[in-house]
Amino acid sequence: DIPVITIDGPTASGKGTLADEVAKALGFGVLDSGALYRVTGLAARRAGLDLDDGTAVAAIVPTLDLRFADGHVFLGQEDVTARLRAEATGLLASQVAVHPAVRQALHQWQLDFRRLPGLVADGRDMGTALFPGAPLKVFLTASAATRAERRYKQLISKGIPANMESLREDLEARDERDKNRASSPLTPAQDAQLLDNSALSIEASVDQVLNWWQKRRPF
Ligand code: CDP
Repeated sequence: DIPVITIDGPTASGKGTLADEVAKALGFGVLDSGALYRVTGLAARRAGLDLDDGTAVAAIVPTLDLRFADGHVFLGQEDVTARLRAEATGLLASQVAVHPAVRQALHQWQLDFRRLPGLVADGRDMGTALFPGAPLKVFLTASAATRAERRYKQLISKGIPANMESLREDLEARDERDKNRASSPLTPAQDAQLLDNSALSIEASVDQVLNWWQKRRPF
């Protein structure tokens, strides 16, 4: 069995950073499941599809030529890293993510990220729908103000224009949609460890997760 650590939580709670650091410490691979939803939303929009048509959007998933290399994401020959991180793409992602057919189309692809010695999976439903048997599940939260500020800094540092007020509104709208959808809504797994990192440094959050990993139930 390949060990999996799941990290789920709302937008900009710091899942990506935590997942990368924990994976680095353990030598594990990373699944950024949000990137798959983002690229699906982007490709659907570019193809001129109706984003409310789950069947049509799901049908483009097998055609996506996606590659992860050195922290960059390529769609065909195009480096779409910055485009994927834009808030507008996050909104497209949450629109296509409501459809069960889209979630189903991405299911096996996500499972295929498992490789020895292990995987850290970052998303909304990693501990509930994708890896329900994972020996360690973390549900990461932070206050909306903290999350808006982090996302703001993250975008600015990458040279992507951002506005704090509209960011916070976007985050809250996306959280509402993620929590209230019928298919795999954002909710902690029953056996998840809850971690509110509003007042924690990245190092402290990483240490907490590594500590839980040492004490994980056997698998
Ligand atoms: O980085 P951030 O948390 O803002 O977004 P993300 O993790 O890249 O996810 C973008 C959107 O994709 C979310 O708002 C969800 O609607 C959707 N998503 C999902 O439904 N299930 C996942 N496992 C990952 C993302």
